Amino acid sequence: MAKNVGILAMEIYFPPTCIKQDVLEDHDGASKGKYTIGLGQDCMAFCTDVEDVISMSMTAVVSLLDKYEVDPSQIGRLEVGSETVLDKSKSIKTFLMPIFEKHGNTDIEGVDSTNACYGGTAALFNCVNWVESSSWDGRHGLVVCTDSAVYAEGPARPTGGAAAIAMLIGPNAPIAFESKLRGSHMAHAYDFYKPNLASEYPVVDGKLSQTCYLMALDSCYKTFCNKYEKLEGKPFSISDADYFVFHSPYNKLVQKSFARLVYNDSLKKASYIDEAGKESLAPFSSLSHDESYQSRDLEKASQQVAKPFYDAKVQPSTLIPKQVGNMYTASLYAAFASLLHNKNTDLSGKRVVLFSYGSGLTATMFSLRLTQGQHPFSLSNIASAMKITEKLNSRHEFPPEKFVETMKTMEHRYGSKDFVTSKDCSLLAPGVYYLTEVDSKYRRFYAQNGAVANGSS
Ligand code: ACO
Repeated sequence: MAKNVGILAMEIYFPPTCIKQDVLEDHDGASKGKYTIGLGQDCMAFCTDVEDVISMSMTAVVSLLDKYEVDPSQIGRLEVGSETVLDKSKSIKTFLMPIFEKHGNTDIEGVDSTNACYGGTAALFNCVNWVESSSWDGRHGLVVCTDSAVYAEGPARPTGGAAAIAMLIGPNAPIAFESKLRGSHMAHAYDFYKPNLASEYPVVDGKLSQTCYLMALDSCYKTFCNKYEKLEGKPFSISDADYFVFHSPYNKLVQKSFARLVYNDSLKKASYIDEAGKESLAPFSSLSHDESYQSRDLEKASQQVAKPFYDAKVQPSTLIPKQVGNMYTASLYAAFASLLHNKNTDLSGKRVVLFSYGSGLTATMFSLRLTQGQHPFSLSNIASAMKITEKLNSRHEFPPEKFVETMKTMEHRYGSKDFVTSKDCSLLAPGVYYLTEVDSKYRRFYAQNGAVANGSS
């Protein structure tokens, strides 16, 4: 069986178009600080009429293969996670196939996985499991998470975002799965769903989605801890991992989630919590589960106790989610990419625990073990090749009126046919793929910015 299976390389792409959250706050007439402090967000990326989840995934895949000089015929499985439905039958994966067909490779397993923000994790597990299985043929797996998170006007709109992530999967990876350390929680809930197939916007019960997220987190953490204790013969607390990375709809929920783990640890009398911390959390030890989700005092006290641990173990993973917004399936992996970006020289030997959540609902907590690795599949090369600072700094901030106008255009275009886009590439970097046309049969056509113009693929 292949050993140390995991992520060999990563690439991230997010649109160069964004809006600052303080500007949006002003425009929406929200109280000052609601989006920036209340939600904890700085900026939000969005697709204009030339970009969508397919073009973003093409950009991420081609860029990853180029940067790491991976021969497309050496990909044996391609899995896509997305909840942005552009076609109810044809998978996003099939739109990516021309990249491989050109090299004579059509022998590639895998299709799309969908369940809200969890599809990327399902895709990742499928690929890792394939490499670990007896049907593995020795080639690489490739996972793509791609989403455009958009909400109707109202309180949820500032929690949008957009991005695609591509991850190369194989053995002897610098980012290896500790496959036995996994806790899942799957249940039926109507917290966020997309029953209206004519609209890209979800139906969302914001408050319920927050509680569902935290309940799933508690349940996954309990299972994860139980498995760890069985394997290691000692209880697990947050001091047994170096970093925690969360699915990040908005940063405030990440702060609350980590505080929730500390609260769980306090109930198990974890020794890293000092006397003052124990004292401030003691009054909440007798709360029922339901009461604990409603208690603002508990939320405040646990966040205070968690603060120094949050700064050390979580904060390094918050950069891209705060700057780009919720990227649905890509959100967790964009947070992980932020950790690589911020701490790459300091990650060898470290354990990172990740929490993936998809409304509806599906959730898993799992563990990765990091080693420096060999060039080009090394942590430092992955971090520098993603060029995160460069990508963030070269973005274009839209004024709110233009953002709202873009949302209206996209709303109108969603599910429609027989149109040509603006083909305006002036804001796109060279090599970025873009949508040129949707014809009278709903067929979508794409081109690559800077490619010799023989048009679409
Ligand atoms: N300054 C500082 N903080 C403020 C201010 C202000 N001026 N005004 C409000 N706040 C705080 C509030 O106290 C609140 O903080 P709290 O959560 O600690 O109580 C926070 O800002 C948000 O304010 P609310 O009034 O609770 O927000 P609202 O009802 O407008 O919506 C929500 C927030 C529910 C997150 C909404 O944006 C939404 O529905 N988003 C989509 C759903 C979502 O992302 N769910 C997460 C999990 S599911 C998923 O990933 C899609």
